[in-house]
Amino acid sequence: MSNLTRNSVAAIVVMVLAGTVSFAQSSGEATYKAKCQMCHGEKGLADSGAGKAMKVKPATDPDVKKMSEAQMIDAVRNGSGKMQAYKDKLSDEQIKDAVGYFRTFTK
Ligand code: HEC
Repeated sequence: MSNLTRNSVAAIVVMVLAGTVSFAQSSGEATYKAKCQMCHGEKGLADSGAGKAMKVKPATDPDVKKMSEAQMIDAVRNGSGKMQAYKDKLSDEQIKDAVGYFRTFTK
């Protein structure tokens, strides 16, 4: 491998790593995976063990789909049914981002 090729490969590796890190931090995906996925499932379908045990509705359920973003944020901030309130655990921004990520599954 020539020096030039080696440097290019190193530059690409750095770009890929930097891209992954900033993506995880800038989206609600990281928050969702850490705090919500165990009940709502990887794709919002509530197909995890805890989701099934708590009878969480999948994101594709008509009752969930008709909720506005504001209603969902309210449900997460103040709790809903068996779901605890997150207002003391997550910032408003984290809740909004995690709900935004959850809403990608309602489509
Ligand atoms: C311990 C399990 C659990 C965790 C963790 C959890 N939820 Fe829930 N969530 C529920 C339950 C139970 C309900 C209400 C019942 C239902 O969905 O039918 C609910 C309701 C909701 C609703 C209202 C729509 C609906 O399905 O009724 C939204 C939106 C929501 N959760 C988002 C989140 C987000 C975002 C997080 C992470 C910050 C989160 N949840 C974490 C169990 C959980």
